[in-house]
Amino acid sequence: MESVPDQPIVSKTKDGSTTLYSARFDQHYHNPNGAVSESRIVFFETSGLLDDLPQKEQLNIFEMGFGTGLNLILLKDYLEKSVHPPRVTFYSVEAFPVDVLTAQGFDFGDELNQTGYRELLPQIFEKVKPGLNTFHLNDYLTLQLFIGRFEEMPDPDQPTHYIFHDPFSPEVNEELWTPDVFTRLHSFSAKSAKLATYCAASKARAAMAVGGWKVAKAPGALGKREMTLAAVDEKALGSLKRVNEQRLTERYRKGDFD
Ligand SMILES: C[S@@+](CC[C@H](N)C(=O)[O-])C[C@H]1O[C@@H](n2cnc3c(N)ncnc32)[C@H](O)[C@@H]1O
Repeated sequence: MESVPDQPIVSKTKDGSTTLYSARFDQHYHNPNGAVSESRIVFFETSGLLDDLPQKEQLNIFEMGFGTGLNLILLKDYLEKSVHPPRVTFYSVEAFPVDVLTAQGFDFGDELNQTGYRELLPQIFEKVKPGLNTFHLNDYLTLQLFIGRFEEMPDPDQPTHYIFHDPFSPEVNEELWTPDVFTRLHSFSAKSAKLATYCAASKARAAMAVGGWKVAKAPGALGKREMTLAAVDEKALGSLKRVNEQRLTERYRKGDFD
């Protein structure tokens, strides 16, 4: 029997930034057209987070799947360039953390150099232990990284305002796209919370609807037609085109997506 390599492999995407390929899930961690570009568009721009940053004193973000740590680094960069950065707690979870050597191979471009990511990410991966790990990264950014499965993770200790839903696709990472998962994310979110994901699959949107989220379609990043933005309160979705949550919920319950 062929064995699956334990560590994912670093590979370049088309914007020059690196991603990882996981043999365990047989999937890349990011869009091959650009890891940094995709993350900026999906989680920071389309989610509305970038517009929100200057207006808030405190924000709590939960990321499903820490992976390379790229979203943390982008957030650190945006905060360091802000005139009045809010305090941010960035909660994340990772069942299969990479080793230090792999993290030393990350290249997210020189533009992010001033975040210190080339040293910071290997240091984080060197220090983490199973369970909750806290890192005070500067005066306003704290990382709360749970090493273990989402299913074992305690809820964040503050309501979350943004969810970066970034597991592998529903086909290979099914357990993170269920109604139970979205119900749980909804239960620890603030009333103003939004959830962003690169995924546009009807089954995923239906699971969000069953989990109590209001769900909308948004233009996809880098050659993808659509992505999904969901919210606790429909007003947060503005003029985006909504899915029919009731219809999707019925279809999910009928087993249309099994
Ligand atoms: C698409 S990658 C995340 C990409 C990451 N946000 C980044 O920017 O590099 C999905 C991540 O979810 C992790 N993962 C998969 N199933 C998990 C589970 N049940 N609990 C916690 N982490 C999980 C994988 O190990 C992988 O690192």
